[in-house]
Amino acid sequence: MAHRNASGAGFDAAYFDAASTEPLHPAAREALLGALDAGWADPARLYGAARGARVMLDGARAQAAGALGVRPDEVFFTTSGTQAVHLAVLGGLRGRRRAGRHLVVSAVEHSSVLHAAEAHERDGGEVTTVGVDRQGRVDPEAFAAALRPDTALACLQSANHEVGTLQPVEEVAGTCRAAGVPLFVDAAQSAGRAEIPPGWSSLAASAHKWGGPPGVGLLVIRKNTRWRSPLPEDEREGRRVPGFENVPGAVAAAAALAARSAETAAEAPRLSALIDRIRERVPRLVPDVEVVGDPVRRLPHLVTFSCLYVAGEALLTELDRLGFAVSSGSSCTADTLRPSHVLEAMGVITHGNVRVSLPRGADPADVDRFLTVLPDAVARLRRSAGVSTP
Ligand SMILES: Cc1ncc(COP(=O)(O)O)c(C=O)c1O
Repeated sequence: MAHRNASGAGFDAAYFDAASTEPLHPAAREALLGALDAGWADPARLYGAARGARVMLDGARAQAAGALGVRPDEVFFTTSGTQAVHLAVLGGLRGRRRAGRHLVVSAVEHSSVLHAAEAHERDGGEVTTVGVDRQGRVDPEAFAAALRPDTALACLQSANHEVGTLQPVEEVAGTCRAAGVPLFVDAAQSAGRAEIPPGWSSLAASAHKWGGPPGVGLLVIRKNTRWRSPLPEDEREGRRVPGFENVPGAVAAAAALAARSAETAAEAPRLSALIDRIRERVPRLVPDVEVVGDPVRRLPHLVTFSCLYVAGEALLTELDRLGFAVSSGSSCTADTLRPSHVLEAMGVITHGNVRVSLPRGADPADVDRFLTVLPDAVARLRRSAGVSTP
């Protein structure tokens, strides 16, 4: 059962794992192929081909800036979302060393943020983690209470990557501004898919999440934000990101971001209605299921539910066999059986969870087929584990 996505790429299965990565957007494919031929030269040099590459890179920067509503000289291309996060967090802390060494993060940040926080702690810094409610949402007052006179940086994601809950970024940004603390927002799950609230000082995003090519991230640092490179510096990307620029990647990433942003007004409500269908039907079709995350203040394309008495990996494997590429919100992948820190922080069931995240162009017939096969798949696994449910 080969399926095709809107860009024409073939799949063996219905692809419902857009939160991990999206297939290449047609606008990105076209831009990438053109830029591989025309934008290969070193944009730092002075001959014709190099100047051409520089023009393409600056054009990509302006296009990405336009889509995000910031100035082009605030945008820097990185080699991944993870690298953008690490540079934003560690560079933000370094730039504010004189204010102190205290960092505030939410408990449900992506591992890239938490790994940067761990590195800061190992380096003698201090970290305060702000918890979330049962829907995975930070309480703005609890976040405000965590700020101290020696807080150098605060981090809050725009939306959670495992359960889709939107965070109160605008409120928290207001509090941070009043306290004189820069706010870093990890917008990897929102960029190109949903509005990013204003008020932040730095931001990270990842091109492969919105149909851009892999290996391209965005680091945005607003003017007048203190930042000092945590890495050895060179002259590339305004001295923010060392190493030779990936001009074709940047061009394709920006083209896809602009295209996705233009499509969002029509595509987000369409995907959101499909997610509502899953949120509403799964608990009726499958006994002993908990649908997690905020039902309203959420990303348009993502839902996670947890099935009691089922091992998540077994369910994902069974769904793969039935023609659905889905993932688990947890990090219970082949190499680790640790339950998800997000679900743990929310106080919800941490096992048997399935994250459905719909890519652009997702077919409603595939969603209906998923809802048709899911109840039997869960029942079969429960039976084989010796559990009988109604
Ligand atoms: C919220 C969030 N932040 C950061 C990242 C890291 O991005 P990348 O995969 O480009 O390293 C991801 C990717 O899973 C993410 O979901």
